[in-house]
Amino acid sequence: MKKVLLATEKPFAAPAVTGIRKVFSDAGYELSVLEKYTGQEPLIQAVKVVNAMIIRSDVIDRNVIEQAPNLKIVVRAGAGYDNIDLNACTEKGVVAMNTPGQNSNAVAELLFGMMLYTARKQFNGDSGTELREKSIGIHGFGWVGRYVAAIAKGFGMKIHAYDPYVDATVFEKEGVTGHKDLQSLYESCQFITLHIPLTDTTKESVNYSLLSKMPKGATLINTARKEVISESSLLQMFEERNDFTYLADVQPDCAQKIAILYPGRYLFTPKKMGAQTEEANNNAGIAAAKQIVNFFEKGDVSCKVN
Ligand code: 3PG
Repeated sequence: MKKVLLATEKPFAAPAVTGIRKVFSDAGYELSVLEKYTGQEPLIQAVKVVNAMIIRSDVIDRNVIEQAPNLKIVVRAGAGYDNIDLNACTEKGVVAMNTPGQNSNAVAELLFGMMLYTARKQFNGDSGTELREKSIGIHGFGWVGRYVAAIAKGFGMKIHAYDPYVDATVFEKEGVTGHKDLQSLYESCQFITLHIPLTDTTKESVNYSLLSKMPKGATLINTARKEVISESSLLQMFEERNDFTYLADVQPDCAQKIAILYPGRYLFTPKKMGAQTEEANNNAGIAAAKQIVNFFEKGDVSCKVN
């Protein structure tokens, strides 16, 4: 009997766990659940006997992989897999997958909530501004970026995008102004929203030379990864531009400093909330479970990332 571990430090909503359980019981697999754990030790203990794992932002480093001699597949129920040591997986013959698109709408909806809350002065009674007719620049036009474009259309925003991996015809089809370089995207948009993965190339790539190009009322929204931003550039922007606002679902390391020095110009969720909806949990969790069953029963490696 195959043994599967659902390891989620930040748990899924209960219906998602029920759905995942059903997929595995129908397949005749055994599921164990490790939620809200602290430190690596409980995870190390739990992986010792398993053949497969479903995780979220849980860190699967070389140490975890090496403590799991029977592990064949790890599925990140979500988009970003920078929390998995892919080299260690490959060396140990472990397949790593993600579940593209399954939690993307949740992330897109969250950033509009953050934008509205901030544009309306955090509901403090002062006059705010509207999103209509404002320009939004989507940096990274993958799944989340496309959901953002669809919602922005409803708000009547002017939509711009940059993605070197996306063909210009896609931007046209989506009714979005495509940019060939990042400078021109940042110059054109009051709101910039980041939807790029964390890689060696993107690390600290959102820097002062880009941010300083943003027009008046510049608002940067980061629901991707904190590391894609240069924090020294972020602080420089706060210092030099009193019209600059930063909204993040992934608190920067300098969050405390920003909170003290620049009140009212930032919004940080206390815990990463982008994908934390019942729907996203269901979609990503159940997709991950099905991918594991299809991998073992049919050899399907469709969403493999290593
Ligand atoms: C993702 O990469 O899918 C998102 O950042 C969501 O992460 P989470 O599952 O930890 O909420």
